[in-house]
Amino acid sequence: MNRKILLKSRPNGIPSENNFEITDAVVPQLKDGELLLKALYISVDPYMRGRMSDAKSYAPPFEVGKPIQGGIVARVIESKADGYFAGDHVLGNLNWQELQTVAATSVNKIEAAKVPLSYYLGILGMPGLTAYFGLLEIGKPKSGETVVVSGAAGAVGTVVCQIAKLKGCRVVGIAGSDDKLSYLKNELGVDVVINYRTAKNIQKAIADACPEGVDVYYDNVGGEISDAVISQLNTYSRVVICGQISLYNATEMPVGPRLQPLLLKRSVLMQGFIVSDFADRVAEGSKQLNQWVSEGKLKFEETIVEGFEKLPETFLGLFEGKNTGKYLVKVAE
Ligand SMILES: NC(=O)c1ccc[n+]([C@@H]2O[C@H](COP(=O)([O-])OP(=O)(O)OC[C@H]3O[C@@H](n4cnc5c(N)ncnc54)[C@H](OP(=O)(O)O)[C@@H]3O)[C@@H](O)[C@H]2O)c1
Repeated sequence: MNRKILLKSRPNGIPSENNFEITDAVVPQLKDGELLLKALYISVDPYMRGRMSDAKSYAPPFEVGKPIQGGIVARVIESKADGYFAGDHVLGNLNWQELQTVAATSVNKIEAAKVPLSYYLGILGMPGLTAYFGLLEIGKPKSGETVVVSGAAGAVGTVVCQIAKLKGCRVVGIAGSDDKLSYLKNELGVDVVINYRTAKNIQKAIADACPEGVDVYYDNVGGEISDAVISQLNTYSRVVICGQISLYNATEMPVGPRLQPLLLKRSVLMQGFIVSDFADRVAEGSKQLNQWVSEGKLKFEETIVEGFEKLPETFLGLFEGKNTGKYLVKVAE
């Protein structure tokens, strides 16, 4: 049996399982230069919401009636490509399909992993690199500074919090449940934590948590949480615009405060980025993240759901905060 998951229709607002369709797929015939792959772990990522719409963006829209694509760790079942053998593992941007053939040139081989294979979709993959480059290249945190992280308990946020601690910063993490807050505080050593869902006054909660103001804001969520953090920025502070998940399902963009006067008066740098901006430095980032993980300096949490058919509901769970750390679906052993 082989199954695939298609984009059935484009969502308007919050997506639902009706926007996806699970169907049987033919086991494809292998050609020269290709690999037959079996998906093991499939990543669900917030940016995929953007690809469900047909709005122009940095990644092309998914096509209606075609498989969803995303980060997948897979095992080679059969190879007709030089340098690949059955049993090898690869990382690729692949179809949400249990078995598929691909050109070997379109995937990256995972060399003898010393860590769980799923880490290549998280701390040693795209989210880890996003945290690393966004914080260090744009945030430029200095020892003793206050770094505020929204979406702090997620795949990117947990890595940002820990790198900021490694750099000697005081870290304030914002997340949406008390379990997430205790994980951030007790496991990752985050100095102050704020539950944005239960805080009576988010502006005051952030001001109280940052008596000396905010030097770096790593923004994963946007919206009112970010408005509140930005009001506390110090002179020469840096704002890293990594994600805006609170706005991904918006059908009309809410109008927030006009920020330019504050940015001007406090000489603030605010910069958006896409991890692929650093594509030519992946080797450097991967090496450092690997080293920190092997030295036990970076911890990594995963929320793993089992079953290929659970992919749509798991993806939707990102917008309800169902994950701590990286959210993944395990499809096969
Ligand atoms: N720029 C890049 O290249 C790049 C690369 C990767 C990711 N990103 C962005 O970085 C952010 C984090 O990505 P991730 O993969 O690490 O996801 P994640 O944080 O593991 O998962 C998403 C989390 O967002 C929070 N959330 C959902 N809706 C929210 C809302 N309305 N307001 C506030 N928080 C909300 C939820 O946690 P709570 O329980 O705390 O609400 C949820 O667990 C996303 O915005 C993503 O698009 C950017």
